[in-house]
Amino acid sequence: ADKFPHLKRDHSFKKLSEKDISYFKSILASSSITQDEEDLEIFNSDWLRKYRGQSKLVLKPSSTEQVSKILKYCNENRLAVVPQGGNTGLVGKVEKYDKEMQKQMLHATHNAIYFITGGSVPVFDEIVVSMSSMNSIRNFDPVSGALVCDAGCILEVLDKYLEERGYIMPLDLGAKGSCHIGGNVSTNAGGLRLLRYGSLHGTVLGLEVVLPDGTILDNLSTLRKDNTGYDLKQLFIGAEGTLGIVTGVSILSPKRSKAINVALLGLNSFDQIQATFKRSKDELSEILSAFEFWDQEAIKLVKEHLVAGAKDPLQSTYPFYVLVETSGSNKDHDDYKLNNFLEGLMSDDIVQDGVVAQDTTQIHNLWAIREGIPEACSKAGAVYKYDISMPVPVLYKAVEDMKERLVSKEVIGDGKLFTSVIGYGHVGDGNLHLNVAANEFSQEATNLIEPFVFEWAAKHAGSISAEHGLGVSRNNHLHYSKSPTMIQLMIKFKQLIDPNGIMNPYKYLPDV
Ligand code: FAD
Ligand code: MLT
Ligand code: ZN
Repeated sequence: ADKFPHLKRDHSFKKLSEKDISYFKSILASSSITQDEEDLEIFNSDWLRKYRGQSKLVLKPSSTEQVSKILKYCNENRLAVVPQGGNTGLVGKVEKYDKEMQKQMLHATHNAIYFITGGSVPVFDEIVVSMSSMNSIRNFDPVSGALVCDAGCILEVLDKYLEERGYIMPLDLGAKGSCHIGGNVSTNAGGLRLLRYGSLHGTVLGLEVVLPDGTILDNLSTLRKDNTGYDLKQLFIGAEGTLGIVTGVSILSPKRSKAINVALLGLNSFDQIQATFKRSKDELSEILSAFEFWDQEAIKLVKEHLVAGAKDPLQSTYPFYVLVETSGSNKDHDDYKLNNFLEGLMSDDIVQDGVVAQDTTQIHNLWAIREGIPEACSKAGAVYKYDISMPVPVLYKAVEDMKERLVSKEVIGDGKLFTSVIGYGHVGDGNLHLNVAANEFSQEATNLIEPFVFEWAAKHAGSISAEHGLGVSRNNHLHYSKSPTMIQLMIKFKQLIDPNGIMNPYKYLPDV
């Protein structure tokens, strides 16, 4: 309990006993049960590898029926559960931990006195239900593009499967090699192509979910249109495992574009980025598939920490970078449009420099810079991650205001508390990833950033969590983005569906 000063283990949850283990052994193969300390390590640590949880048991069901039996038993016996996908979620919590825990940290990269935990990592001794063994593709309809699969399928594996059939997953993110589609659905992940294909609230056609009491909710529809009653699946999209376990996903995949172009641009100001974005919508319109940006601090970290793919393709460094992607069906047509667009930007002095990838390797290398930013930031020391959305015109002002604040308090620079403020994100979605790198996590550092950043988002009609969700790090800040009436209704939904509160406790909703 020391680890989370504001949290206490809920003693209504039972502690795991030999009898419980015997039951799980009666329904699962022995290879689906992990109890060994060393093997548990990976399930107890989040992507940032800064925290070690205390779960003593990981279960890896291989069917929906097994998930149902697990949850039914856990619910009847008040055993708390954490569903886990690829464990790449980013809504961790930074808290103080003691020397003993510090010794236990196997992956510590710096001498931090604080740790961080993700929404998919247990807070106390919750049982981890890993979905990694439920990884089969159930069905694909080559006419409609509807793909039905198990929740534990890895996003990149699904995309490769669809590529062979001329289709594409409607979402893409840097964590694609590890994250599960069930984890994507449960976090309502946005990613790099939301601009083109929309959110999972639109592309998910149906879900199969096991409710906390073991009931299987079969809503695995492949229909595009179905206005019969409340759209129950929507409740589970972005629920972060607090309402049940997603076991199956039906998702609409679009046709894969035959012609892909990627351009990297160097610009002097965020105003120029906005002008470029506006023109891209006018001139590239239906072929525009991504519009991402990052700043000078971000490229600096990529070059410093990621050797592969970090070569600067532009002549010199610029205050801002934009990656524009087009996806269309006619290469000549797309090349013509993109070249006209770029020439116009250059001649009007909106863009200072630009390069267009000439082949798939170059496309991959340009994307590697953008997709490498989260990892590069995580290597910059103790990084405080914020994921806010707001109207595009004020998007970069959040970075400038944060910098100004830290400079005015004389806490940033050589030998100071903070080393840099980094901005990047999905311009097309009004989504900024504001990262603040410190030498180490500390309460003093946290207090300098929070609640400033949340108040900033609320003041600018923004959201305090655009795409990463709430987990244990944003649950108590929900009121900055949602009204008391909305929060009360959320609490009622939770109580209705999970009356014993066994699903992913201590997270998502505000602490009581
Ligand atoms: P996990 O991290 O394992 O779990 C996330 C949450 O969902 C947890 O609360 C967990 O309990 C719950 N959960 C997982 N599986 C299930 C299930 N089957 N049923 C019920 N609950 C479940 N996010 C974006 O939105 N856009 C990005 O561009 C983006 N890029 C990223 C890049 C990197 C390098 C990294 C590390 C992360 C990125 N993320 C991004 C964060 C994003 O939330 C995750 O990558 C992804 O969506 C989580 O999937 P996962 O399988 O790893 O889930
Ligand atoms: C991204 O867009 O790269 C992700 O959301 C991850 C991050 O914010 O670091
Ligand atoms: Zn993102």
